[in-house]
Amino acid sequence: MARSDREEPEPAGPRLRERGLLVRRAAPADGPAVAALLDDRDVLRWLPDLGSAPPEGGAAAGSGALGVPGVRPVGTAHRLVVEVGDAFAGLVLLTEDGEGGGWLACAAPPSARGRGTTAGAVRLVLTWAFAELGLQAVHWAVEAGAWPARRLAWACGSAVDGTVRALLPVRGDLRDAWVGTWRWDSSLQRADRWLSPVELAGGGVRLGPHLAGDVQRVAQACSAASTQAWLPSLPSPYTVLDAASWIAGREEEQARGAGVFWAVRPDGRSRAGADGTDPSDPVDDDGPETGPLLAEVGLFTLGDGVRSGEVGYWCHPDARGRGVTTAAVRLVVRHALAPADRGGLGLERVVMRVASRNTASRRVAAKAGFREVGLDRGAERLRDGTVDDFVRYDLLAGEEQDPLPPRG
Ligand SMILES: CC(C)(COP(=O)(O)OP(=O)(O)OC[C@H]1O[C@@H](n2cnc3c(N)ncnc32)[C@H](O)[C@@H]1OP(=O)(O)O)[C@@H](O)C(=O)NCCC(=O)NCCS
Repeated sequence: MARSDREEPEPAGPRLRERGLLVRRAAPADGPAVAALLDDRDVLRWLPDLGSAPPEGGAAAGSGALGVPGVRPVGTAHRLVVEVGDAFAGLVLLTEDGEGGGWLACAAPPSARGRGTTAGAVRLVLTWAFAELGLQAVHWAVEAGAWPARRLAWACGSAVDGTVRALLPVRGDLRDAWVGTWRWDSSLQRADRWLSPVELAGGGVRLGPHLAGDVQRVAQACSAASTQAWLPSLPSPYTVLDAASWIAGREEEQARGAGVFWAVRPDGRSRAGADGTDPSDPVDDDGPETGPLLAEVGLFTLGDGVRSGEVGYWCHPDARGRGVTTAAVRLVVRHALAPADRGGLGLERVVMRVASRNTASRRVAAKAGFREVGLDRGAERLRDGTVDDFVRYDLLAGEEQDPLPPRG
């Protein structure tokens, strides 16, 4: 790394303050705290290059703090320390590229995570970078799959601009990277919703996020001929790799606010329709249930300002015929139509499309309170090659208390 040999007075660097948070230039006394942070397991896993950044004020040669090939910063690297109440709370590294752009990387020690501290520090640094350094854009890049970093960028108003394949050198390998940008006129506040499958329970089932261990059950359910018959968009043959990539892809949909997906498991503490609880009550007692995956319910075509969502589902063949899907769909619909200030998604309408010959699914729709509102003729080609009409159902806010009575 090239550093000037000339004696130059060290710049004082910024001192940025906001509500108990201080961001200042790193000092020699920060050495042990910074070293411990750079040695942290998560930092080593996701940002192994953070430690190779040049010291504050140094001319940054090489690939820069984020290890992005092709980026050859010629300006200044600002190594900044975050403090909360005199305690070390993280590191923010801003590397100017000398052309009005910059790259930002940051990390927080475990004790400072999950408190919004780093997001606050990043906002302070960006505001300073745009107002004082005159930068026009600041980019970030992390290895694809670094969800905590992605969530931080989202909290600070940055979406992912794209995934660049084989961009980041990590331990001798080139990894895919998520890349994002803040422009000088970005709001720095979260914009889109990041959806998540909040825990819901009632009617004998408990809904929550997918777990890595669900792969086998998803693969079994989605490869079954009885599932493939009605969901012709599923890969065929359907393998455990398809299941793994499906589960991994759910977080992406949720992060973009496009959809939310629940894994359905048995709930030992309630009986179908007999426990007297309001099935839309979010669960806050024992944490996620880890029983076997019985079914999946998804709510999609969501987005900012969207009033209506579409529901879809499947049930593992060994769990069918017990009311599992009906109970799960009812919970999801209640949650979807509940106002946002009561923890719901605030939708005004939920729709469903079912092949006209899919008797079981049409029964689920009716039992969950949906009304048949139309028919899309010759809408889709099913797996057996025949074309079927699709029945359209909807359910409006306020109607969800009024399902059809169970058959028999
Ligand atoms: C549709 C599906 C999710 C239903 O799951 P489930 O947990 O068995 O559903 P439920 O037990 O809550 O309700 C099923 C209803 O369909 C009825 N049903 C099932 N097969 C039927 C058939 N061949 N003829 C008539 N009714 C049938 C059941 O009797 C039950 O109604 P009831 O309670 O009034 O008796 C499941 O069959 C499945 O995964 N199918 C393949 C994927 C699919 O079609 N997804 C929906 C796409 S729109």
